Amino acid sequence: MISQDLQDKLISLAKLAQEKAYVPYSNFPVGAAVLSDDGDIFTGCNIENVSYGLVNCGERTAVFKMMSEKGPKAKIKALAVSTQTDMPCTPCGACRQVIQEFSTPETVIIYKGPHGYTTVSMAELLPGAFTEFTPTH
Ligand code: THU
Repeated sequence: MISQDLQDKLISLAKLAQEKAYVPYSNFPVGAAVLSDDGDIFTGCNIENVSYGLVNCGERTAVFKMMSEKGPKAKIKALAVSTQTDMPCTPCGACRQVIQEFSTPETVIIYKGPHGYTTVSMAELLPGAFTEFTPTH
């Protein structure tokens, strides 16, 4: 768990990142802020494309920024997501799998649910996650 102060800081940084979103197709800006295991914060927004399927969600932008700066051993301590509207916004399925890759049992995800901001563990966000496989060759 992380302190309420830190959770509030991540939410406000996610809101700032949301202002950078490139969303001419959906007009649905999303911001995210990731706290790395060594205490740094990375933010991201969604970036769309005229070829719709190429959208990069806010969460993945922030996670990829963290990984590309910190390197392959980095882990996510917490990730907050924000949207402009009152609409709930939970990370999409693709983002859950990407967040899972760099999570620990302590990782927390903060998002706007139907009753305001809620904090969940990665296991709650993606139960039964695909986490390993054995190559057959
Ligand atoms: N989106 C995100 O950035 N994160 C989410 O968790 C859900 C969806 C984006 C993708 C697209 O740019 C827009 O929101 C509408 O789906």
